[in-house]
Amino acid sequence: MLKIGVLVSGGGTNLQAIMDAIDAQGIPAEIVSVVSSNPNAYALERAKNKGIEAVTMRKRDYADAKAYDLALAEHFKSRGVGLVVLAGFMTILGEDFVNAFENKIMNIHPALIPSFCGDGFYGLHVHEAVLEKGVKLTGATVHFVSPITDGGPIILQKAVEVMDDDTPEILQKRVMEQAEWKIFPEAIRLFAEGKLEVVGNKVRIKR
Ligand code: GRF
Repeated sequence: MLKIGVLVSGGGTNLQAIMDAIDAQGIPAEIVSVVSSNPNAYALERAKNKGIEAVTMRKRDYADAKAYDLALAEHFKSRGVGLVVLAGFMTILGEDFVNAFENKIMNIHPALIPSFCGDGFYGLHVHEAVLEKGVKLTGATVHFVSPITDGGPIILQKAVEVMDDDTPEILQKRVMEQAEWKIFPEAIRLFAEGKLEVVGNKVRIKR
């Protein structure tokens, strides 16, 4: 059974979608720990409500970024985690962490990478840029994490229409509902069933 560790910082709606999908779809995986960089993240409540370990680990409580990376890696390694899921995690992870879980860390980005991604493109800023540019389609991307922000191999993407009267908040909610909460659980199911193969910078899906 695949053991999953989840990193969060905020509301935890992606965490909730993943927990619900594991139960509803019988995904062969178990979330064994949820770690938040923010002690007030509602995502921690969502985990506690499901009886899942929920702890806070803040970068400021460690000597430096490397110590934080190593502490996070040890936390998950000691629990036998085989997949780390970044569900709205707002802290950049360094090479020490990324290299400890090569192609075993998944992130959700609220746009169609390579559009509207990279440094500075997070949360509402992504949707503000989408509306500013006037694109007609946006969406979400699940990808493996590499040392380059939003640069790892793409696993799944799903497009979402942009409406003329969208605000960043309305668009964010549509992207979450129609894309994020669907493709993140699906990507995790494919990984848990051994159907994802990384070849170079691409992901092959064995359907
Ligand atoms: C989502 O918009 C996700 O795309 C981005 O951060 C937000 C997390 O929301 N990475 P939640 O904490 O899962 O509700």
